[in-house]
Amino acid sequence: MAANDLVLAFTGASGAPYGVRLLEVFLESGRTVHLTISPAAVQVLEHELDRRVKLDQFNLHDLLVETAALASSGQVQYHHYQDFSAGIASGSFLTAGMVICPCSMGTAGAIANGLSQNLIHRAAEVHLKERRKLILVPRESPIHLIHARNLATVIEAGALVIPAMPSFYHRPKTLEEAVDTVVFRVLDQLGLPAADAPRWKSGEDRE
Ligand SMILES: Cc1cc2nc3c(=O)[nH]c(=O)nc-3n(C[C@H](O)[C@H](O)[C@H](O)COP(=O)(O)O)c2cc1C
Repeated sequence: MAANDLVLAFTGASGAPYGVRLLEVFLESGRTVHLTISPAAVQVLEHELDRRVKLDQFNLHDLLVETAALASSGQVQYHHYQDFSAGIASGSFLTAGMVICPCSMGTAGAIANGLSQNLIHRAAEVHLKERRKLILVPRESPIHLIHARNLATVIEAGALVIPAMPSFYHRPKTLEEAVDTVVFRVLDQLGLPAADAPRWKSGEDRE
């Protein structure tokens, strides 16, 4: 345990590439990552990225198939989503924050209503009660009133909501660059700004 460890959860919303990219960047930055994955996220990872992750026999190489060196770094501590004895289920376990990326509307609703039915909900509730950074990267469209109210509730409780909405004003040329427009917003909020993040410049400074 170290106060600069990060918690990362993947849940079953579309947007697995955001979560995997975020994990890679956290590892590149030298952070220890406490990773937990919901069963629905496993389906999305396979559907969107052909990554076949086993929750009961987790192997990081199944997730980081294209960045094998990072998978071997030993920086990831995996926690089964039903393991309430994991350190991240307790407020006494210090972290630098938690990101749920992608965040399903189901998980957002569970957090908004304090359901704490799995480790992801519990760790999120811990981050809220300890007044630590909790970032949700939700993805759903369109959203209905209950979704909007749940997101408002988590914001009122102290969470940051960074919707999985890529921006295009820097004209991303690849899917990876578009993914990074969301990932960089998360990194900014965690105090881990990416050196190569494109940033808005005023008219006279623009190239
Ligand atoms: C391929 C796939 C894509 C999905 N996309 C979304 C989505 O974009 N947003 C969302 O809220 N739920 C989405 N779902 C539904 C959730 O996975 C489902 O509501 C699930 O119960 C969420 O559980 P979790 O929050 O524990 O991961 C998707 C499911 C699948 C299989």
